[in-house]
Amino acid sequence: MTDVVTYTRHDEIAVLRIANPPVNALSQAVRQGLSDAMDRAESEDGVKAVLIVGDGRAFIAGADIKEFGKPPMEPNLPDLCTRIEASPLLVVASMHGVSLGGGLEVALGCHYRVAQPSARVGLPEVHLGILPGAGGTQRLPRLTGAEKAVEAITTGRHIKAPEALELGIIDKIEEGDPETVGLAYARDLLASNAARRPVSEMPNPQGIDWDATHAALLKKGRGQLSPATAMRAVQAASELPFDEGIKRERELFMDLMNTDQRKGLIHAFFNERAVSNLPELKGVAPRALQSIGVIGGGTMGAGIATACLLSGLNVVMIEMSDDAAEAAKGRIGGNLAGALKRGKINQEKHDNLLSIALEVSQNYDSLKDVDLVIEAVFEEMDVKKQVFAKLDAACKPGCVLASNTSYLDVNEIAASTTRPADVIGLHFFSPAHVMKLLEVVVADQTAPDVVATGFALGKMLGKVAVRAGVCDGFIGNRILSTYRAVAGHMVLDGASPFQIDDALTDFGFAMGPFAVADLAGLDIGWATRKRKAATRHPDERVPTYIDRLCEQGHYGQKTGEGYYIYEKGKRGGTPNPKILELIKDEQQTLGITPRDFSDAEIVRRYMCAMVNEAAEVVGEGIARRPLDVDMTLLFGYGFPRYWGGPMKWADIQGLDAVLADIERYGQEDAWFWQPAPLLKQLVAEGRTFDDLNKEAA
Ligand code: 3HC
Ligand code: NAI
Repeated sequence: MTDVVTYTRHDEIAVLRIANPPVNALSQAVRQGLSDAMDRAESEDGVKAVLIVGDGRAFIAGADIKEFGKPPMEPNLPDLCTRIEASPLLVVASMHGVSLGGGLEVALGCHYRVAQPSARVGLPEVHLGILPGAGGTQRLPRLTGAEKAVEAITTGRHIKAPEALELGIIDKIEEGDPETVGLAYARDLLASNAARRPVSEMPNPQGIDWDATHAALLKKGRGQLSPATAMRAVQAASELPFDEGIKRERELFMDLMNTDQRKGLIHAFFNERAVSNLPELKGVAPRALQSIGVIGGGTMGAGIATACLLSGLNVVMIEMSDDAAEAAKGRIGGNLAGALKRGKINQEKHDNLLSIALEVSQNYDSLKDVDLVIEAVFEEMDVKKQVFAKLDAACKPGCVLASNTSYLDVNEIAASTTRPADVIGLHFFSPAHVMKLLEVVVADQTAPDVVATGFALGKMLGKVAVRAGVCDGFIGNRILSTYRAVAGHMVLDGASPFQIDDALTDFGFAMGPFAVADLAGLDIGWATRKRKAATRHPDERVPTYIDRLCEQGHYGQKTGEGYYIYEKGKRGGTPNPKILELIKDEQQTLGITPRDFSDAEIVRRYMCAMVNEAAEVVGEGIARRPLDVDMTLLFGYGFPRYWGGPMKWADIQGLDAVLADIERYGQEDAWFWQPAPLLKQLVAEGRTFDDLNKEAA
């Protein structure tokens, strides 16, 4: 037996305790330990029941994800679950914390399940690009029926104990020490001569309309394969005897195990956690955070204030006038009403947040006690500098002074104060109380504990915080401007904006770039083009057809017309035919003969532009590691999670192939397509972006 599974006797009951911190993942040692302990229980005189419990914070969080992609090691998990279920002894699971994936599958292999009221169960494998592969797709529907099992398995959601009881996944809820509760339950079962109850012997669940459900899941998954494939495994539970169903589950599991999507999703799982582990922050304590100042209560300020309030922080908001203060309060009130409606807070909490935790003022003296201030005023350097001068005068020593600027130079902002070491960029994404990404922008003189405080705030707010250096657009917006540019080039050369949007949503993006432009407002890009016109390089290709639409007062969704036409009450828009005419005019003016683009070419050019700029960003140290770019794009820009991020996508394609395409495109437009030195270096050395991630770990 291994030391990760201990065996103790309590009269007629053998207790198998799993202790594999932090979350009792089912590593080879745990599987072996459980298997050996089952053998021992069955061989010892007088044992009538087995109780399986977990040590620490969870029963079992699932298979050990770190073992995926490595050669399989015996005993495998499906066999272990079958072995537990086949035991002549009565087997009971006592569950606390989470029982996820293989963890729930082990519990389903037991004959009875008792759980703590706070326990949660689920089969979240689809989020890792796979499906429950240890009998979960066969046993769960035998307990819940097919429809409920399909819902649980294809969403991968965590199910709280009361619902799990209602669904028949667990048999009993009992509060107390899990071992004590489990022993009492096992004793009761023995006393009442309860029979072994293998789920595999229960009747097949009734069928549902499998093909319609499969099609709906494929559509909902925007190209993600695992939910629809998992459904086919549940179908097997309904249509095949148990043993054959298990075989079908295994085949489908192995199919998914071999996909790039599995690699991308597991890359996302680990790096979502690794992104905040920065060597420079090891041992650096963040400053205390209790109250936050927010300057400007527009779109961003109101969202940031909402996020802070919902996380238990007090907020002092500064606005310019009575009217602006009222409007800001209204925005925050609207956001909190949404949280109330969705059940995130109750009425009492909602009222307290608005009346006690939030203060809206026009007087900077109100900021004297705050621990950190986030400035979210207009995107103009002079305005920001005036605000920072006031903050410098009003805030206590040690207060962190942060800017939410999208593009402006944080070094210049810092230099306008007497305390540049306390200044940092905290770049939120709109809507700030919803979007998960936070770029922590580190300026030349930012103190390490100020950086640590930025990350600590991110954690408090439930954000994925990414370290970025100072440049125009930091990590995300800088890369965005490059892939937006290539979309524009493709339009000039013959691909319609609608084809481009469709090709990219088929690739898995939440929205295409032109639909995004309509949402953000076409006037923003128009203003930027005008501002940059004088300093633009003569070889830079910048389409101007869309400016004609802006000149007519059409700015996208907010005016009802942009690339698409939006009708009130309808979701999404329909392609605006005017756009194609305007493009044709520009092509004629420029002497371009439009050509056809395949969807595959559109995606390839878009992705190559993204990867090339991302490699520049990493090469310059703006992003410390490729994984920082990946997490930025996943959590702030709607990049399909199942590709893991653009750098992971590039690794999967092969960096040499990506570089070859960039060089080929460079024959048409040498100014735009200049291969990033880091990309060339990695190809020459036969290394990948992931190698850089590993070296930085
Ligand atoms: N395998 C290996 N490591 C795991 C793990 C797993 N299944 N689950 C969590 N971990 C690790 C995390 O990587 C993290 O490591 P780190 O400290 O080095 O970064 C550590 O455990 C703690 O995890 P979190 O920081 O996420 O802690 P939380 O308390 O926020 O969340 C959790 C805990 C809810 C268990 C969350 O980690 C989670 O959702 N884990 C994944 C669960 C899952 O997907 N299980 C299914 C696995 S696939 C499977 O079982 C296949 C089977 O059907 C054959
Ligand atoms: P906004 O125009 O909606 O809000 C700005 C607010 O600041 C207004 O309410 C205004 O009254 C207030 N304000 C202006 N000067 C002030 C001053 N001196 N003192 C106090 N209040 C003042 O702008 P938005 O969109 O919220 O942007 C704010 C900042 O956030 C900008 O730097 C922008 O680049 C950045 N940002 C914007 C994003 C977006 O999607 N809108 C995303 C990420 C960052």
